[in-house]
Amino acid sequence: MKLRKKIIAGNWKMNKTISDAQELAASIKLELAECREVDVVLCPSFTALKTVSDTISDSSIKLGAQNMHWEPDGAYTGEISASMLRDLYCHYVILGHSERRTYFGETDAIVSHKVKAALAANLLPIVCVGESLEEREAGRTEEVIQTQVENSLTGLAAELKRVIVAYEPIWAIGTGRTATPEMAQDVHAFIRRVLTGLSDAETAETVRIQYGGSMKPANAAELLAKPDIDGGLIGGAALDARSFVEIVRHGM
Ligand code: PGA
Repeated sequence: MKLRKKIIAGNWKMNKTISDAQELAASIKLELAECREVDVVLCPSFTALKTVSDTISDSSIKLGAQNMHWEPDGAYTGEISASMLRDLYCHYVILGHSERRTYFGETDAIVSHKVKAALAANLLPIVCVGESLEEREAGRTEEVIQTQVENSLTGLAAELKRVIVAYEPIWAIGTGRTATPEMAQDVHAFIRRVLTGLSDAETAETVRIQYGGSMKPANAAELLAKPDIDGGLIGGAALDARSFVEIVRHGM
């Protein structure tokens, strides 16, 4: 048996109306309803969660959200809690995406609060980390990644097994510039070493690390063949059923 089951998640970002989302989820379900070899996750916007949840309810495809607040309830206008996501049958939640970090001021400390709240509510967090182009060119990739991983995932102990890490180099997101499989593998192996430091080797070996950043049908097979690349977090290519399904098939 493989140690880590691959996980391919579609991050639809701020795209798709309810009816568009329903159509996309239905097309994906036509092809992947019975998929057991790979964990398939769809992460629509909040407004489409209910519709997508209903659409995929009789399949093996799982639902994820793109963000949540860390408090269970209260006066947080515009925010959504973990239990609200559970109510809609979400299994996963993306946390600390670089767009949240860049445009909405999310820090590692905020991400850490959210990770703990998600786990407490039985949601599996997909925790995003990644360096900017400037940081990579300055040779600071490992330092930046280490800080993000350690500070976002501090104090979890055995719970770390339930976390999914997504390595998303910022310079590769939505740009068409992908990290080479070798570049990505190096960072994934490094992340696993950092995870070992946070827990132990056995725990770190079970954590799934996704790659994200312009992953598409043409480059998915090579990336997913690398030993420490355990799946993908797909943006642009997840908005088209055929390309998303093709990427999932490369993970089988
Ligand atoms: P992309 O986005 O596939 O469009 O590069 C990935 C992501 O931001 O999760």
